[in-house]
Amino acid sequence: MLKGKKVLLGVAGGIASYKSPGICSLLRKNGAEVKVVMTNNATEFVTPLTFQTMSNNVCHVEMFNQLFNMDVEHISLAKWADIIVIAPATANVIGKFANGIADDMLTTVLMASRCPVMIAPGMNTVMLESEANQKNMKTLKDRGVIVLGTATDVLACNDYGSGKMLEPSEIVDEIDSLLTEKDLSGKKFVITAGPTIEPLDPVRYLTNHSSGKMGYALANCAKKRGAHVTLISGPTSITPPKVDNFVNVKTTRDMFDAVGEYFEDSDVLIKAAAPADYRPKNYSEEKIKKTAKGDLNSLEMEKNPDIARHYGAMKKNQLIVGFAAESNNIYEYAKEKLEKKNFDMIVVNNIKKEGAGFGTDTNIVSIIDREKVDDLEIMSKSDLANEILDRVKRLMS
Ligand code: PMT
Repeated sequence: MLKGKKVLLGVAGGIASYKSPGICSLLRKNGAEVKVVMTNNATEFVTPLTFQTMSNNVCHVEMFNQLFNMDVEHISLAKWADIIVIAPATANVIGKFANGIADDMLTTVLMASRCPVMIAPGMNTVMLESEANQKNMKTLKDRGVIVLGTATDVLACNDYGSGKMLEPSEIVDEIDSLLTEKDLSGKKFVITAGPTIEPLDPVRYLTNHSSGKMGYALANCAKKRGAHVTLISGPTSITPPKVDNFVNVKTTRDMFDAVGEYFEDSDVLIKAAAPADYRPKNYSEEKIKKTAKGDLNSLEMEKNPDIARHYGAMKKNQLIVGFAAESNNIYEYAKEKLEKKNFDMIVVNNIKKEGAGFGTDTNIVSIIDREKVDDLEIMSKSDLANEILDRVKRLMS
């Protein structure tokens, strides 16, 4: 939801400034307009030209020696921004900002702004924890500035401790959360994601290609839009978004139980997971051997519960969105599932198309409800998640 947002990125002179072009790039990829103000010290680490190129805008450093237009530059920059983000924020800049010192372009813009300000500190542990810096950060927090945390790691000075600036993706996520309208607040979402796995013996299991990306994108966007989110996920290798309630499951029966725990109290259930439809009938406590008598030539399977169908039949006021992964007759099969599982809407992807379905960062889907079929263009899973949530919101109202 960063499309069209104006972000003023302030870069202070810490070693973490080498990551700041990454923030600039990610913001622009997400549709934001970016302008950059650097301190003189920051230019010792990264050149203004880097930011000029990444932001496609003039990079501001000096107060007096550049005349780009007839505006008073620090005032027009401060008025232009929807948010000012300082990353990295050094102890020096934090100290100046907290104490009302405006002696360069960055601190003057800060002084002249009324928009939200977020700072991402990046410094040595002792400097971070020093009494002066802690006091200055508290002053800023009390004034409404959003002060992000830091990570604990081996730092540039070889000390191990806190003070490492957050990663660009984490900072951009925080900016996105802050600027996104909370139009789903008060609504409880249960979202399933990822595959399920069905063990065969202590070593082996059956599963599918779901990465969890689609379900996690939905959970992330719903949370940013203010919903209370329970994310029920099968095993994945990607980092879960920050939600209210993250429930890890393994098998389809685990997922069935977990959905049962939260369904009644929910407003919306979104079934983006790809649960295994079958499981091995007999689980072997010992590893199945591939020699002589123990050879595995065939597998006897039994059916798993159909989670969506079960809770679809039970629904009262809940709205249910299903997914379908199809490789042929996609409209026909999807409409059949919409009816059978009592969905209000189904999102169907043709998994044979490049850029759609399992594991990709994009998806190509058709969204079918009781009135119409809409074929959507290829888009990122995050944009698709917001599109689905917009439709859910319309159906709820
Ligand atoms: O995780 P990604 O890599 O990002 O991939 C996303 C995705 C392709 C997994 C996702 O977009 C998707 O299509 N999910 C549904 C996959 C699937 O199981 O489709 P299906 O046609 O078999 O099932 C239809 C619906 O019933 C789904 O909402 C499914 O969650 C649900 N179902 C299926 C089987 C079962 N036993 N219980 C269920 O609730």
